[in-house]
Amino acid sequence: MANLEVDLTPRHPQGLRLANPVMIASGTLGYDGYGRGLIGNYPLHQLGAVIPKTVTRWPREGNPEPRWFPDSYRQAWESKADEPDGLLFLNAIGLINPGIETAVREWTPQWADWNATVLLSFAAHSVGEFGEMAAITNAAVGISALELNLSCPNIENGAMFSHSPALTRDAVAAVKANSPLPVIAKLAPNVPDITEIAKAAADGGADALTICNTLPAMSIDLPTRRPVLGNITGGLSGIGLRPVSLALVYQTAQALKEIGANIPIIGVGGIFNAQHALEYILAGAAAVQIGSANLINLNAPWRILTNLQNYLTNHNIATLSQLRGTVHPTPTH
Ligand SMILES: Cc1cc2nc3c(=O)[nH]c(=O)nc-3n(C[C@H](O)[C@H](O)[C@H](O)COP(=O)(O)O)c2cc1C
Repeated sequence: MANLEVDLTPRHPQGLRLANPVMIASGTLGYDGYGRGLIGNYPLHQLGAVIPKTVTRWPREGNPEPRWFPDSYRQAWESKADEPDGLLFLNAIGLINPGIETAVREWTPQWADWNATVLLSFAAHSVGEFGEMAAITNAAVGISALELNLSCPNIENGAMFSHSPALTRDAVAAVKANSPLPVIAKLAPNVPDITEIAKAAADGGADALTICNTLPAMSIDLPTRRPVLGNITGGLSGIGLRPVSLALVYQTAQALKEIGANIPIIGVGGIFNAQHALEYILAGAAAVQIGSANLINLNAPWRILTNLQNYLTNHNIATLSQLRGTVHPTPTH
């Protein structure tokens, strides 16, 4: 069997060694993002890692309904099976969550029972709050790393953390100062130059990067002339996001290589099969996260993992890391 192991945080003394590169993206472990009521049926420990939905400092109710477009990703997928590339997935959930204290106290012990590698995702509204939340995570049970969801506005000046190199650097540094765990910065796609943000995250001490979160988006229902989402705008995920995210992963991998920074990238966006995952690995990702595909069928990560393994075996490739970043920089014809 080919070796799919990944050292996700080589810069960190304790490190984060994953058995394989397939992770469940934050917010997509079932429709509540926390997998409540369904997890017993899924061997989460077989995956590289699982990231429950982002938590915030205080509980949040979420956005007005509807929060999903279409209502059921699975039904939409099945009805459009002959033209899946046309499918739009939009959401504006609004980070509904119980707040970090409840999550740490009541939920992390349940996550520990999964016997999986679990990463805690959180978002904050100020650099100080990022640091405060990092300190709170020290009481969590069985968490292997922290993923910072930087797609959140800073209340001090309204700028998104993920849009500002300085805010990104400072948020990461504040978390690093208060937690011994590896820290992964999750970046947004809608920035003029993602390499500037990635380098700032590296300056702040990020051990790895996740690229990328959803892309701001909107759709209007013509007969009613109303936006399809209660929040009017939301985030685009799925098929349409893949080429966008793939380019960002490629550009970031190149930029980090140029400055000699050994910071692994986790590619996420529109991965529905092993071929998609391999595209990310060739572009320079060390690991991948599966998001929207889980909402069509939560078997997706295991299917992708098996097919990755088969691809390597069939091509006589001993380790996944041999493929990382090996895209040929010339077009196919
Ligand atoms: C319904 C839904 C909820 C999400 N919630 C979160 C979240 O709480 N935190 C986060 O960092 N990303 C969240 N995301 C973004 C995903 O983790 C992922 O970055 C994005 O969807 C792109 O991957 P995909 O195209 O495979 O879905 C969410 C995505 C979806 C579809």
